[in-house]
Amino acid sequence: MSVTRREMLAFGMLSGGAMLLPLERSVLAAGQNRIAESALPAPFRVPFSVPRVATKVKSVGTTDYYSLTMREQATEILPGFRTRIWGYDGTFPGPTFDVQPGRQLVVRQTNRLPASHPVLGYTPFTSVHLHGSPSLPQFDGYASDVTYPGSWKDYRYSNLYGSRTLWYHDHAVHHTAPNVYMGLVGMFRTHDSLEQSLPIPQGSYDVPLVISDAMFDREGQLLYDDDDRSGLFGDVILVNGRPWPVMKVERRKYRFRILNASISRSYRLRLDSGEPLVVIGTDAGLTAAPQPVTSLPHSNGERYEVVIDFAKYAIGRRVTLRNSSPRNNVDYTHTDKVMAFDVVSEARTTSKNSVPNVLNPNNAIMALTPTATTPTRRLALVRQGGQWTINNLTWGDVEDSDYTRVLANPALNAVEIWEIHNDSGGWHHPLHIHLIDFKILDREFNRNGVRVAPRPHERGAKDVVNVGENERVRLITQFGPHTGTYMLHCHNLVHEDHDMMGQFRVGLGGYDPITTAPARPLPAPEF
Ligand code: C2O
Ligand code: CU
Ligand code: CU
Repeated sequence: MSVTRREMLAFGMLSGGAMLLPLERSVLAAGQNRIAESALPAPFRVPFSVPRVATKVKSVGTTDYYSLTMREQATEILPGFRTRIWGYDGTFPGPTFDVQPGRQLVVRQTNRLPASHPVLGYTPFTSVHLHGSPSLPQFDGYASDVTYPGSWKDYRYSNLYGSRTLWYHDHAVHHTAPNVYMGLVGMFRTHDSLEQSLPIPQGSYDVPLVISDAMFDREGQLLYDDDDRSGLFGDVILVNGRPWPVMKVERRKYRFRILNASISRSYRLRLDSGEPLVVIGTDAGLTAAPQPVTSLPHSNGERYEVVIDFAKYAIGRRVTLRNSSPRNNVDYTHTDKVMAFDVVSEARTTSKNSVPNVLNPNNAIMALTPTATTPTRRLALVRQGGQWTINNLTWGDVEDSDYTRVLANPALNAVEIWEIHNDSGGWHHPLHIHLIDFKILDREFNRNGVRVAPRPHERGAKDVVNVGENERVRLITQFGPHTGTYMLHCHNLVHEDHDMMGQFRVGLGGYDPITTAPARPLPAPEF
């Protein structure tokens, strides 16, 4: 059932790419079709909500079984309009997973999406990536390990350790941006005993914020315009799928799991009260110590755990979360606003209501330090002839090599420094490396030879690093726990699709990501 690029070409199945481009461009020039700003809801009117929690089908021993169906659904995003979305179980965002210590998961993903995208016309094959998990290659959402409509695949996650904020999203080759934009994204939290023993907010005071942006046509349908493959910038900011929502809060501390699920937009978050956002976690979980910041730069795919203390405000006060947009974004009237918090009552409970000075001091990746013999590899992120490349290569080159071509081949457990170069103006690239967590060592600007320390909010283990204009970032990591091939790519999903994605191989051998556990046609057997 695995389909190589050559086979897809032979059967005329390869959609996207040059063939569709003229049609996309003419249909999608958003200016004409865009809904009037006056038809959009005013910021801070729509009530906040959190995605429902995923429910398991059954448990056997230490394994929990889940089943999600990707399907189209009409849902109210803009008041008074029904917007067609694609969601895990028909919801956007999909259900939130909460995984207790010591559990393993099997998640059955069934693709019941329609035969083609409503505007772009491509066949919506899918691949589900659990971002933040060191999954085996065949369960990692490898871009070319695709599941067609009418097929299903079981994803097994057996390496869920530690407490962290992960997310799951579509990763299908060349269609990740439109698939995610249609709604194929959800949050996924793992918990551990260290986290549970800390006095930080938990349970209903531990709140997912999936931030994205979108634009709509006059009928309220999603408009897709990637501006000649540069980026997609909507005029509506969504939190958990709701436009600029307002959340009622008690006078106490809340912990927010903030995910930037936008296709291209990056944010700089801050409170209009001027009070700090206290960063307690990065992509890979709790940091060693809290870092209060007055503004939080947040690029695509990154997750931050942030505590906000609403006890500082009187009942009746409204505090808003703002976005002072970083460079390289396209702004509209209300893209400087994200959501609001209305302080409505005293705290119902003040247990788990503090932030200790020591959170998670023993992260193995954060303990890595370079030595004189640590090897360094360089990766250059460059736009070339309308394609986005890494060291002059694209995912197309990986496909043409029958998935053998790699950017790097570190040994299992090797410690290496990777130096990521973005030696051009005009673009920032949030680079994501699958499988591993890394520690950011330093940054150099304009090739001036001066390396500066990572920013306060980046001082925790991460799997995405924003590489800004004319920046070079050094990170250190250890490759494991699996051998095999894994992707790395820009998490501006428009760049990823066209075609700033490559792969590295850890060690030798390892499971083949495409042929080991391919999707199968429905019907699926019972678990
Ligand atoms: Cu969140 Cu390879 O992606
Ligand atoms: Cu990932
Ligand atoms: Cu990029």
